[in-house]
Formats: sequence, structure tokens, C-alpha cells
Amino acid sequence: MNTTLLAAPLFATLKNQPSDSLLELIQLFRADPRAEKIDLGVGVYKDEQGRTPVMAAVKQAESALLSAQESKSYLGTAGDMGFVDALIAVVFGEARRGDRSLSGLQTPGGTGALRLAAELLNRARPGVTVWVGSPTWINHFPIFQDAGLKISEYKYFDRDTQSLTFTALRKALETAQTGDVVLLHAGCHNPTGADLSADQWREIAALCAERSLLPLIDMAYQGLGHGLEDDADALRNLLSVVPDALIAYSCNKNFALYRDRVGALFYQCADETRRERLRGNLIHLARTLWSMPPDHGAAVVRLILNDAALTQVWTDELATMRGRVRNLRAALAMAHPGLSFLTRQNGLFSTLPLSPEQVLDLRTTHGIYMASSGRVNLAGLATAQVPALAKALKPFL
Ligand code: LMR
Repeated sequence: MNTTLLAAPLFATLKNQPSDSLLELIQLFRADPRAEKIDLGVGVYKDEQGRTPVMAAVKQAESALLSAQESKSYLGTAGDMGFVDALIAVVFGEARRGDRSLSGLQTPGGTGALRLAAELLNRARPGVTVWVGSPTWINHFPIFQDAGLKISEYKYFDRDTQSLTFTALRKALETAQTGDVVLLHAGCHNPTGADLSADQWREIAALCAERSLLPLIDMAYQGLGHGLEDDADALRNLLSVVPDALIAYSCNKNFALYRDRVGALFYQCADETRRERLRGNLIHLARTLWSMPPDHGAAVVRLILNDAALTQVWTDELATMRGRVRNLRAALAMAHPGLSFLTRQNGLFSTLPLSPEQVLDLRTTHGIYMASSGRVNLAGLATAQVPALAKALKPFL
């Protein structure tokens, strides 16, 4: 190491890092004293009263857990395999339960799953390229970069026309090298709400299979788009075409377990020898990253999914949440013709064609909070706030 660096006081060589602008919005919103303020910032579901309640099924499962749990001893690096197994049926379909070519392990949230996947990929092929459509969730870039992966960006979406730029995605896949990784959002695209059609997914699946590209699917909103089954269709069809894939899954939104950090990394690998090696490496990496994932939230999800009555309570509440977001999209489109695209999109997010200055103006003048990219979390809105938001956006859209 160079001697100037060695002579510098410890940590003096660290570079300042930008703070996470999305998470910063939480503090800014809290500090705003205006009663009429509107929070469209971080991606958290809120009800009409602006609360993010603990779901009824979660409350019931937690009570059962509290009285039945006899030990908090270690579960192991893979976490709660009962949780992983129960989730396989929800994500991939009942038929794939027990299918040895598909397995997974519990991770701390979807972010943990993504980071674990990135570390695995870098171990398998140091510096491998990940193809990422722009825009994407702002944490995707640092997760992959910090793990040592190379990112190739292509344009996924045009904000002004609110449409997918599918030819750029197709071209990216035609340009990618064998063994490259393709990051795809399973649905409820963050930050645009614009999802690929079934035909487009078919094309992608064929290209991945033909060119030996590895799909890495980020699935964080199952059930918040069209329904639990519908939201999994694209993924299931893709997996029927490609031999290998990684799927980073989050239960933080669809079980509203945000702070409990509940997620899983699933892998499909047809070859048994490679699959065993893959699992061994995932366990080895997870042990160095977090040793074992937090138990509570995953145990709650396992209890819900293994009890038909609790599953029903959960799916009903999820349907209410999904319906509320869909109604808000329709109400906003009715209130402002320039927002008609909202009804073509899915999930919590949309990215409005606003400049950072306009976003700041909305915050200062009206107390409307959103990411500087123009991304809005529609689930932060109350129906009664629709007219105020539509009016405030009038000068800009
Ligand atoms: C979001 O995109 O707002 C959420 O996924 C929260 C986060 O961690 O960024």
C-alpha cells in the first residue's frame, strides 16, 4: 500500500457517501408541521387514515407464536426452511413443492436476497455483467457494484410517453454475452409501475434460454398488482423455459412486515451437482454476511401459510390493499386527464414526468413529498387527498 495512505489517520481515507435520498424523505415528511401534507415518498402501503397497520393475519399468527414458541435457539444459516417451503407454493405454484430443481433459503428482506445473489455471482464469475433497465430501484446499483459486479444499463422506460422501451431491452439481451445476468422485476415495477406484457416476457425467456443468460428476478410486490396468482404468471412461465435462475423475494410489502426483514433467495438449477455446489456457496456466503437471518417475521409467514383460515385472512386483506391502490389510480386518472397512464400501471409506484425543481416546488408549496426522480408511492395517498394532488400537479402535467 502506498506510504501516504498508511500515514493517514485511520478512516481519513474513506470518501464521503451520499445519503439515501429516498429514506431521507421519511425524516423530511415527519418534520413538516402542515396538516395537509401528502406522503408519496418511500414505498410503504398506507390505509385511508395514513397508517401502516400490522395485518390481521400477522397479529393472529404472532399471538400463536408467542404462546407456542419454546426456544429461541439457533435455526441455522438457511433460516426457517418451513417458511421457504410454504413460500415456494405461493410464488412458484403448489406443483413445484418438493421439486428438487428449485429451492431457497431465508434472507433478511429482499435486499439481503439481492446482495446474497450478487455475492454468489461474483464468486462464480468475478466481475460478471448484470444488465439493468433504467430506471430501477435506486438500491440495485449500489448492491451490485459493492459486490464487485459490472453493470450494463439500458433504457427500460420513457417517462414522457409513459411507455416501455422494449426494443432497448431486446437489444440488450441480444448484445449480452453468454453467462451475463439479466435483472428483471417480476411485476409492480419499481419505480415506474410499468410491467412487461406476457408476450414480452415470452420473448425475454426465449432470448435468455437461447443465449444462456441468467435471469435474476426481483419479486417484492406479489399480490399487489393483479393478484397472487396473476402476479406470479410471468415468473412461472419464464422458469419453464430457462434452466437456471435466481429469484430475490420480499415479504416486507405483501405481509406488511417491513421492519422484520422477511425475504428469501430462491434458485432454480436443473443439474444436481451444480445445484448442491450452489447451495453450499450460498450457505457459506450467508454465514459470513449475517450468519443467520432474523427469525420472527419468517415464522409468522410460515404460520399464516400453513393455516388455511389464516391464509384466507391474509389474502383478503391483501386484496383490500390492492383494491385501494387500484382505486386511487383510477380516481387520479379521473381527476386529471394527464394522469390517465396510471390505470395502465401496477403496484405502488409511478414515475411522473416532473423535473427535480418541480418536485421541490410541490414539496415547498403544497407539502407533497415524492422522490426527486418524480417517483410517487400511490399507496401513501388518501382518497380525500386526490383532488388536492391533481390540482397541485395541474401546472406541470
Ligand atoms: C422503496 O423503493 O421505496 C422501498 O423499496 C423502500 C426502500 O428500501 O427503498
